[in-house]
Amino acid sequence: MIKQARFLISNTDVKKCPAPDRPEYAFIGRSNVGKSSLINMLVGQNGLAKVSVRPGKTQLINHFIIDESWYLVDLPGYGYAKISISVKEKFQKLISNYILNRENLYCLFVLIDVRHAPQQIDVEFITWLGENQVPFAIIFTKADKLGKVSLAKNVGAYTQELKKLWEELPSILVSSSLDGTGRDEIISFIENVNKS
Ligand code: GTP
Ligand code: MG
Repeated sequence: MIKQARFLISNTDVKKCPAPDRPEYAFIGRSNVGKSSLINMLVGQNGLAKVSVRPGKTQLINHFIIDESWYLVDLPGYGYAKISISVKEKFQKLISNYILNRENLYCLFVLIDVRHAPQQIDVEFITWLGENQVPFAIIFTKADKLGKVSLAKNVGAYTQELKKLWEELPSILVSSSLDGTGRDEIISFIENVNKS
């Protein structure tokens, strides 16, 4: 259960993030996949993280403190086509700096829109995480957009694709920020990692 969530700071510099003295969980994935919406759903506060129908809304590293004891982080999306190469490179650098250097990052949640077949950019990103031994889990988003059968089919197909890369699969969760699917599972997942 989350009792309290509060915005702390937005910045573009890993060094300016809050002191790495508590467990931290960050959300990443393609622009528009629903990172900011998921944070709001988890903490039960619409508008805490900024959401937009336009991709590319979140452009900074945004820290939120939960129950004064752990951090949630909203990151910019990757793979947004309508920005210049130089901005894209700046984002990539920001994101990779954060991921590789944030010592209290207990788990990175990689968000994937459950409606789509595996996309190269996500598979490459996940491969990069594996190569760099970054602890991560996958959350399929926007589950409300599919019926039960298609949902199971898509999650299954993705899992098959990931099995080609690794023998051991990462943790896989399913969410909908619209109807709250996955909220309890994601919070329990975090609480379990906090304890370990
Ligand atoms: P960037 O910050 O631009 O990278 O995007 P983001 O990943 O933070 O996505 P955001 O939370 O801003 O949501 C993008 C759009 O998808 C918004 O219009 C949301 O309302 C919608 N959306 C997010 N999650 C869900 C969901 O679970 N179900 C449905 N139906 N729509 C969602
Ligand atoms: Mg966002």
